[in-house]
Amino acid sequence: MAISENVKKLMGGSSWVRRMFETAAQLKVQHGEDNIFDFTLGNPVEEPPQGFKEALKGFALNPIRGMHRYMPNSGYPETRRFVAQQISDETGISFTENHIVMTVGAAGGMNVALKAILDHGDEVIVPSPYFVEFGFYIDNHGGVMRLVDTKEDFTLDLEAIEKAITERTKIVLINSPNNPTGVVYSAGSLHALADLLRGKSKGRRTPIYILADEAYRTIIYDNIPYPKMFEIYEPSISVVSYSKSLGVPGERLGYVAVNPLYAGAEELIGAMIFLNRTLGYINAPALMQRLLPHVGTNHVGPREYQRKRDILYGALTEYGYSLTKPQGSFYIFPRTPIEDDLAFVSDLQQSFHILTVPGRGFGIEGYFRIAYCVDMDVIERSLPGFEGAAKKYGLR
Ligand SMILES: Cc1ncc(COP(=O)(O)O)c(C=O)c1O
Repeated sequence: MAISENVKKLMGGSSWVRRMFETAAQLKVQHGEDNIFDFTLGNPVEEPPQGFKEALKGFALNPIRGMHRYMPNSGYPETRRFVAQQISDETGISFTENHIVMTVGAAGGMNVALKAILDHGDEVIVPSPYFVEFGFYIDNHGGVMRLVDTKEDFTLDLEAIEKAITERTKIVLINSPNNPTGVVYSAGSLHALADLLRGKSKGRRTPIYILADEAYRTIIYDNIPYPKMFEIYEPSISVVSYSKSLGVPGERLGYVAVNPLYAGAEELIGAMIFLNRTLGYINAPALMQRLLPHVGTNHVGPREYQRKRDILYGALTEYGYSLTKPQGSFYIFPRTPIEDDLAFVSDLQQSFHILTVPGRGFGIEGYFRIAYCVDMDVIERSLPGFEGAAKKYGLR
């Protein structure tokens, strides 16, 4: 065998999202792009905002000498100051550039944060259903993922989390707005989680951290409030991505922010800066970092996604599917009309040319995920297929 046994095993259980995405590509060749409704991947169709494109043009026409060179591993100070100012304005907590590390997307940020905290065998609690990459990121750094069920409506189950805590628990990893469910955790549930972890952290060498994956933090609907983790729990770390908020997932920009109210913040940030280098990222892409302050807060907003959510949620409910109304991100996670999610997703694909991902790809069977970050036209033309499937399986 040419590769490690562990990697072989990990690859064997790898992503259903990727598998379905690849099937979609084959079907598009077979049947023509327009006849396949591909809801597999969270690859946003929204273009970056105008300010982004103008700034890009500005740097191309008037380059700054040395702008492509190495930089501090944490990123450009002015970019970090820009991010720090934004978070300070939002939270009323005083962030400086010293609390921010620019990273290679949220994926890079998660890896840097996990490695900074985990020793071999340490445990990370992850509420399920969950973004399946978390398992691989945790494994990268010798950690052990402990999945805990969420409640029926996918909100946090505090009792389940409490039961899962052991002396090896180092992190509770939460993702809100959530992929795949679209749930936004309420302030009440996060306060309860914080109280629980404060109690459980007593007498430990390091506290149990909350690591918050906030990749979808700008995509929240109906103006519902987005509780700020930093105000709620001191040993908290936020990982943010510009992939979705600027519509630039190929450009790989994100950051990690550590709560200044946490006494260990400086040591933690120091470790992350070191790891940004030694994990081989060195720094987040220079040009993207330079662009960021020029874009300001002009992000791809939730408006278009909310329209898509409304149409899809309305139609699926009318057809008889059972589902929780998403509050953010751009995923919807209905129950499959039959228990076997894989069989349903395969039939949706074969009979109706609609590609989705089975719930088991996110740790739970009996559901399927629709990534609706696609053109409105794709959503509208797919609806008769969803309706046809509902009829076929007796939902209406
Ligand atoms: C929950 C979640 N976290 C992290 C990521 C990775 O984001 P990035 O492209 O910034 O690495 C994704 C991407 O889909 C995601 O859904």
